[in-house]
Amino acid sequence: MATKKPVGTVTRGTTNPNRLRRIDRFVVAQRILRDEPTPIVVDLGYGASPITAVELSARARLVNPAAQLVGVEIERERVARGLEVATDQLHFALGGFEVPLPNPPFASEQKVHLIRAFNVLRQYSEPEVAGAWALMCSRLAPGGLLIEGTCDEIGRLASWVTLNSDGPQTFTISLRLNGLELPSKVAERLPKALIHHNLPGESIHKYLQAIDAAWRLHSPLATFSAQQRWVAACDTLVAQGWPIVVDRKRWRLGELTVAWAAVEPK
Ligand SMILES: C[S@@+](CC[C@H](N)C(=O)[O-])C[C@H]1O[C@@H](n2cnc3c(N)ncnc32)[C@H](O)[C@@H]1O
Repeated sequence: MATKKPVGTVTRGTTNPNRLRRIDRFVVAQRILRDEPTPIVVDLGYGASPITAVELSARARLVNPAAQLVGVEIERERVARGLEVATDQLHFALGGFEVPLPNPPFASEQKVHLIRAFNVLRQYSEPEVAGAWALMCSRLAPGGLLIEGTCDEIGRLASWVTLNSDGPQTFTISLRLNGLELPSKVAERLPKALIHHNLPGESIHKYLQAIDAAWRLHSPLATFSAQQRWVAACDTLVAQGWPIVVDRKRWRLGELTVAWAAVEPK
């Protein structure tokens, strides 16, 4: 039987141990991982080493011991490297945005509950984003999520879009607060859908400027902790009417989530 060509292109495989810890923390907080008896989580485009897939698998199993992790890579040798560390809950497959599952142990048409695609689309062009999102989202089970974004080499600055089968829902930034000068530093690591829109007049620009202003406003709190300063800044943004997801526990992690509509490019 002829196998279909994976959708996408091979790109640089740069990755790092623990680079995606901020995203893993968000992934494992999603209800679907707990509610689903046997959730299938995909790490799409895991890179030159399978380390981020191994880490996500371990973290997912802490919240649901039955979680299955599938690392999908478009580059053959990287898949071979993954297969060396495969287990009965950690699988690897050659593929692209069509998100194939290895058969066995999965059925070919089986849907997935969560796809994490990190530092993958940043190496594509902006017009390719919508199609890649749609194809990945078509693989989601009801209630399933796609988390697509970008971070720096060591995972101190990260941002991502969370989508369901209806499209993008929220935009999240996650920053190491200690030593942070201005939150808009994350502009260097925006998802492809936003990075070219951080310009005056665009919503993402307005949003990052508002976060910087709120961060500056609460600079006296830095003497207590960067976390207190960030939580106060988040409260200010809520008071200003930004459609922020109010969750102090996540704010203390340096995370902030807003409705996609508030930052969506014009
Ligand atoms: C920069 S690495 C990112 C590694 C890891 N996700 C991280 O954030 O550290 C990007 C990887 O995505 C893979 N890739 C690019 N397009 C892909 C696609 N359509 N499907 C699956 N993998 C893809 C590349 O081959 C590369 O190994």
